Amino acid sequence: MKKGLLLVLTSIMLLIIAACGTSGEGTGSDAEGENEGEASKTLRVVTDAAYAPFEYLEGDKVVGFDIDFINAVADEAGIDIKVENVGWDAVLIETEKGTSDLGVSAITINEERKKSYDFTVPYFLSTNKILVNKDSDIKSAKDLEGRVVAVQNATTGQVAIEKIVGENNPDVKKFENTNLAIMELLSGGAEAVVADNTVIEAYVENNPDKDLMVIEDPTNFEAEYYGIMFPKDSEYLEEFNTALKAILENGTYAKIYKEWFGSEPDVQILID
Ligand code: ARG
Repeated sequence: MKKGLLLVLTSIMLLIIAACGTSGEGTGSDAEGENEGEASKTLRVVTDAAYAPFEYLEGDKVVGFDIDFINAVADEAGIDIKVENVGWDAVLIETEKGTSDLGVSAITINEERKKSYDFTVPYFLSTNKILVNKDSDIKSAKDLEGRVVAVQNATTGQVAIEKIVGENNPDVKKFENTNLAIMELLSGGAEAVVADNTVIEAYVENNPDKDLMVIEDPTNFEAEYYGIMFPKDSEYLEEFNTALKAILENGTYAKIYKEWFGSEPDVQILID
């Protein structure tokens, strides 16, 4: 009998505590705009995890600079995300259709893409470079004329080489991902790969036995900036923009950059 009463009293007290807790939390976080109380949605982030060091697989886990970066941005924004490796073509298609909430995949911001997508402010400076065998006589982008060149399909690397050798040139071999393009070079099916500098430089460094080198050509390959890509008119763009600017300014971005690249980033060129 006594036990029963105690149980009832404890339950009532717990209910009161729970009620206070909820109302307190509700006001607090609403003021911060974190939307607690509303069922908060987990946003679907798509990537092509064959682009080390930006995104790649470690076992079945997607890791890389971009992954740490997007988690920090989402954290800053108070938004839950889940990163899914879907492949490059699907990154582009799904984010255009809106079946993905956003794409993070070393994606270059350019005028053409801005017609179909929204982008945040830039978070990384990049340029295309040329990967060749160490004994190659290729010295510049112009030397790629008449040579078989491997690229990842629908990348700025493809656009850059086609500007030189012409669109639909059969000498440009297009692959689903950059690793396959590099395999083509290694197996002798192509004389060069055009892709983002950081990716091919990391490949050369991590595979010294492959006897490859990187050629730069700043006159033919322009500077590019990566952005987080959203479906047009996404309701999340502004929140991510604000959070991205915050981590650029509060040192979080620099910390992640240093972990991956071992040096200080030039945050100023991203902010200006
Ligand atoms: N930056 C280049 C572009 O936007 C290549 C990006 C490829 N990214 C990837 N994860 N495969 O076209």
